[in-house]
Amino acid sequence: MSSGELEQLRRENQELRSVLVEMRTQLIQAQKMTSVGAIASSITHEFNNILTTVINYAKMGLRHKDAATRDKAFDRILAAGQRAGRITTGMLSYARGRQAHREAFRLSQLVEDVLVLVEKDLQVHRVRLESQFDQDAWASVNAGQIQQVLLNLVVNARQAMPNGGTLQLAVIVNREAGTSEIMVRDTGAGIPADKLPKIFESFYTTKTPDEQGQGGTGLGLALCKEIIDSHQGRIRVESVVGRGTTFTLRFPSIAAPLAPVQRAG
Ligand SMILES: Nc1ncnc2c1ncn2[C@@H]1O[C@H](COP(=O)(O)OP(=O)(O)OP(=O)(O)O)[C@@H](O)[C@H]1O
Ligand SMILES: [Mg+2]
Repeated sequence: MSSGELEQLRRENQELRSVLVEMRTQLIQAQKMTSVGAIASSITHEFNNILTTVINYAKMGLRHKDAATRDKAFDRILAAGQRAGRITTGMLSYARGRQAHREAFRLSQLVEDVLVLVEKDLQVHRVRLESQFDQDAWASVNAGQIQQVLLNLVVNARQAMPNGGTLQLAVIVNREAGTSEIMVRDTGAGIPADKLPKIFESFYTTKTPDEQGQGGTGLGLALCKEIIDSHQGRIRVESVVGRGTTFTLRFPSIAAPLAPVQRAG
């Protein structure tokens, strides 16, 4: 092969590599938006409930002239509006977070931002939530990507508990290991030991898409692993069939920044 041909091959190789990198980035972003599909229906229902509350209390306030009843009506309308605001802010922050850069984040803040979106869905599926957050757990992360990982893990956990159960979310600082960690534990079906090595493979799934064609592509955990690897972190899984599954995300710990950082987004 002549040196000209070799140079040509090298260039083509380089081009293909950059196309691949670009496509993987697009795949992550596409999966991020489809994973919202799993919670879209419960969010829509929640908005309907909020509107019903607002309309009913507005009617009550108009009907009754006494200050106490009107105050109560205003209080309820305000609370409902604030709840709606938290959900839309959470959704916008989830959808918007596509920047490539990382910054210091308090991990509990990222978990809470995702919880706002999934709370109703868990409630509808009779999943009880237990959480324990160490506020000192900080890591340098791409917030949007970690929210995507958390949403995937929470949706998987909920899907593993079709008859309800408990979802435990914990954020801890492992001082010995020098890591900040997030644990997502469910009391669901569990994963048989011979299947455990497969779950991070692309397209490995035991699910079938629902009526809306949602879910069951088997890309969720593969992309979670890719994202966590790119953070120099680790994703670990432990599972007991019939008892449940625990996913642990480990990030190199960092000190809290001097000026506290804002929300994810
Ligand atoms: N918390 C869990 N409990 C039990 N099994 C799980 C859990 N999380 C993942 N799995 C198993 O791992 C498989 C792969 O999960 P992954 O999130 O990659 O894909 P999926 O959920 O099947 O599809 P998608 O996420 O694309 O909708 C699942 O099909 C399921 O068999
Ligand atoms: Mg999944």
